[in-house]
Amino acid sequence: MNGKAGSGTGAGFSGKVVLVTGAASGIGRAAAIRFAEEGARVFCADLNLAGAEAVVAEIGGMAAAVPVDVADSASNRAMVQTVIDAAGRLDVAFLNAGYYGQADGLATVDEDLFDRLVAINLKGVFNGIKAVEPVIAQGGAVVVTASAAGVIGHPGNPAYCAAKHGAVGLVKSCVDAFAARGARINAICPGGVETPLVGAPDVAMVPVGDLPRVPLRGFGQAQHIAEVALWLASPAAGFVNGQAQVVDGGLLSTFAPVTLPVGP
Ligand SMILES: NC(=O)c1ccc[n+]([C@@H]2O[C@H](COP(=O)([O-])OP(=O)(O)OC[C@H]3O[C@@H](n4cnc5c(N)ncnc54)[C@H](O)[C@@H]3O)[C@@H](O)[C@H]2O)c1
Repeated sequence: MNGKAGSGTGAGFSGKVVLVTGAASGIGRAAAIRFAEEGARVFCADLNLAGAEAVVAEIGGMAAAVPVDVADSASNRAMVQTVIDAAGRLDVAFLNAGYYGQADGLATVDEDLFDRLVAINLKGVFNGIKAVEPVIAQGGAVVVTASAAGVIGHPGNPAYCAAKHGAVGLVKSCVDAFAARGARINAICPGGVETPLVGAPDVAMVPVGDLPRVPLRGFGQAQHIAEVALWLASPAAGFVNGQAQVVDGGLLSTFAPVTLPVGP
């Protein structure tokens, strides 16, 4: 494949068909590259088609770019149909596209931003789940990118937080539907990750052993999240189902120190 990371065996997803949304950037880009390195035929879906095509070029081989607006149900169905028409099957769906917007506290989140955050981060996940469920392969897996803000409150962006909590609820509620098809569904809940979402550039992929250790509450890299997404989608995680897997360098492990005056 791209020969840049050299971190995988190249065989973990051999013969598998993988769909990644939000693949043009950040966590989705890293996951698309890593699934491809592990032998998968990867479909890179994004609103930013040029960005997805750039990731496909980075991967080389059998990868393909697919346009999608996850907020639109018909667009999600068309995306999945493109995969089925081209590859005949779908083994893994990494429903990862997301949006944060400009927010700094409740007062800065108006109705329009609320609607957009919910449309992409919650309805977008619902649309993706609805589109992939009828075709997901026996033994397949869905991984949804929620957030650490999907399991605790986030005063900086309450609407994003509410949407991510909703995404976790959707995942838990859809376990039975996917189990009926012999497939699993889990959420991954990143803490702070250096991606364009938070104004950081995408960085080069590295061998897994060279990923920086983040022992406590720093920012992780997109590839840290991608590696866990691959594991959740793999047979090694075959008994992991309906979980919200936090990947946060210990961010949520303890109460933060109280820094604001409390009480009257
Ligand atoms: N970076 C973080 O600190 C962080 C923390 C927790 C969760 N997340 C979540 O991780 C996921 C990936 O984010 P990232 O950090 O890699 O950000 P990113 O901005 O680098 O990538 C997000 C991708 O989603 C695409 N996208 C946005 N709206 C879309 C739409 N309507 N339809 C299709 N594609 C769309 C964008 O074009 C972009 O390529 C998101 O769901 C995000 O909410 C990120």
